[in-house]
Amino acid sequence: NKTENQMLIIFGASGDLTARKLVPALFNLFRDGHVPDNFVVLGVSRSNLTDEAFRKKVVLESEYLKNKATVKDFGLIENFSKNLFYEDLGENYDTSYSSLAERIGDLNIEFSIGNNYIFYLSTPPSLFEAISKNLTEQGLNDETEGFKRLIVEKPFGYDLETAKNLNKGIQKYFKESQIYRIDHYLGKETVQNLLVTRFANSIFEPLWNRNYIHHVEITNAESNGVELRGGYYDNSGALRDMFQNHLLQIVSLIVMEPPIAANAQEIRNEKVKALRSLRIMKDEKTLNENTIRAQYVSSKINGEVVKGYREEKDVNPESKTETYAAIKFFVDNWRWKDVPFYVRTAKRMPTKVTEVVIHFKSPHHQIFQDSGMLNKANKLIIRIQPDEGILIKFGVKVPGQGFKVERANLDFYYSSLQETHVMEAYERLLLDAMQGDATLYARADEVEAAWAFVDPILDYWKNGKDVRVHGYSAGAWGPKNADELIEGIGTWRNPSE
Ligand code: BG6
Repeated sequence: NKTENQMLIIFGASGDLTARKLVPALFNLFRDGHVPDNFVVLGVSRSNLTDEAFRKKVVLESEYLKNKATVKDFGLIENFSKNLFYEDLGENYDTSYSSLAERIGDLNIEFSIGNNYIFYLSTPPSLFEAISKNLTEQGLNDETEGFKRLIVEKPFGYDLETAKNLNKGIQKYFKESQIYRIDHYLGKETVQNLLVTRFANSIFEPLWNRNYIHHVEITNAESNGVELRGGYYDNSGALRDMFQNHLLQIVSLIVMEPPIAANAQEIRNEKVKALRSLRIMKDEKTLNENTIRAQYVSSKINGEVVKGYREEKDVNPESKTETYAAIKFFVDNWRWKDVPFYVRTAKRMPTKVTEVVIHFKSPHHQIFQDSGMLNKANKLIIRIQPDEGILIKFGVKVPGQGFKVERANLDFYYSSLQETHVMEAYERLLLDAMQGDATLYARADEVEAAWAFVDPILDYWKNGKDVRVHGYSAGAWGPKNADELIEGIGTWRNPSE
C-alpha cells in the first residue's frame, strides 16, 4: 500500500499518550521505512511549548522511546525529531483556529504535504465536537484537495446516549468514511488473527457453532491497579474501560459470520450484526444472575501490602466502581443459540493476561474410560497476550493396557516466527489510518451496538436494588461469587495456574 505525503496533527499532544504510545509508534514506522518521504507531525495542545521543547519532551528525552531504542537508533531518533512541530492552542483550546490553520498551511507548503491531513484527537471526548467544528470553519475537513481524516481516542461515550451524541456531533463535520475510532485491541496481531484462525482454516470453521462449541470464555486480567488514573477510572469502571470496547470487539470477531471479503466495509458489517445479536439483559433477575462486579481490597502481594481500590489516589473512599466485571450472556442467532459466553476483566489479578478459550463439546458417545468429563474435552486457547499464540488441547491414549485418555497440547507461539517484526497496536493502527484503511477501527454503528448491550448492566449496577459490590484480595483471581456464575458448566481457566 502506498502512503502519501501527509501531516499528522495531534490534539492533546502534551498528554501522556503522545509520549508513551504515539511517538514511539511513529518512530518505529519511520525507522522501518513506512512513513512517506514527506511526513510532518504537528503537536497541538494547551501547553506553551516551542518546537524544540516539544521534541525534547516527546522524543529526545522520552523515557519510553529511550528504553525501547537500540544504540543504532539514536541517530535516527535525531532525524525523526526534525519532523515534529508544535502549536500552542491556548488554555482552553480557545485560541483562534486561524493561527493553527495558518501553521498547517505553512508546513503544508514547506514540506509538500499535498493537503493530506490526519487529525488525531487525544483529548477528552467532550472536545471532539468543538474541535471538529473549529477545523471545519477553517476548511480543514474539505477533501477537494488531499484527504482529511479524523482519529478519535477512547473513551467513545459514557453510555449509549452520549456515544450517539458524540457520533452525531462529529458527523456534522466529518463523513463517517473520514472518521477512525481507535480501539487499540484491534491493533493487536492476535486479535486480528482471530479472523484468520476462523476463516483460513477448514479445521476450525466447520466446528465454530452451537453443534460443537459448549461455551466460550474470555479472560482479561491485569496485575496493575488503577495507578495514577484513579480520577478517570472511578468515573468509568471495568465495564466501560475494557468490556464495552476491547472485549466486545473480541467477542464480535468470535461471533461474526464470515464476511464476503476482507475489507473495512464487509468485516464491519458482519461485526455489527454480531454485536446486535447479543441478547440484551432486560430484567433485574437476569441481570442479577448473569453479572458480577467487584473491587480489589488491600492485601499482601509478595510480602508487600498493596492498597485496596478505595484507598487509591483520587478514588472516592465509598466508591462502588467495579475493578472486576464478569458477565455471562447469550447470542441470539442461528449459529450460537444456547451457547453461553463468559467474559471477565479485572485489575489487580495475579498476572497480566488476555485469552479466549473455545470449549468444545465432548464427543456425543463415550467409549473410552475417563474421557467423558468436560475437562477432558477439546479446547482451543487463543492467547491474545502475553506469549501470543494458540494452544489446542486434545485427547491421546495413555500408553499401556486399555484405552485411557489423557490431554495433550499442540502449542504455537508467535515468537517462533522470528523473522517477522510484530508491529505494536498503535503502529499498525496509525499506519492503516495513514493509508486510509479503516478495517481495524470501530464504526459508529458498532460502538452504538456495544453500548446498547452494556447500558442495561450499567443501569442495573447503578440503580438496581441491593446490587452488591463484592470484594477480592488484590492479587487474587476475583471474588468467590464469580465461580457461581460458571458453576454447572465448568470452572474459570486461570491462565497461569
Ligand atoms: C486501556 C484501559 O484502554 O487498556 C486501561 O483504559 C487498560 O485501563 C489498558 O490498562 C489495557 O491495555 P493492554 O494493551 O495493556 O491490554
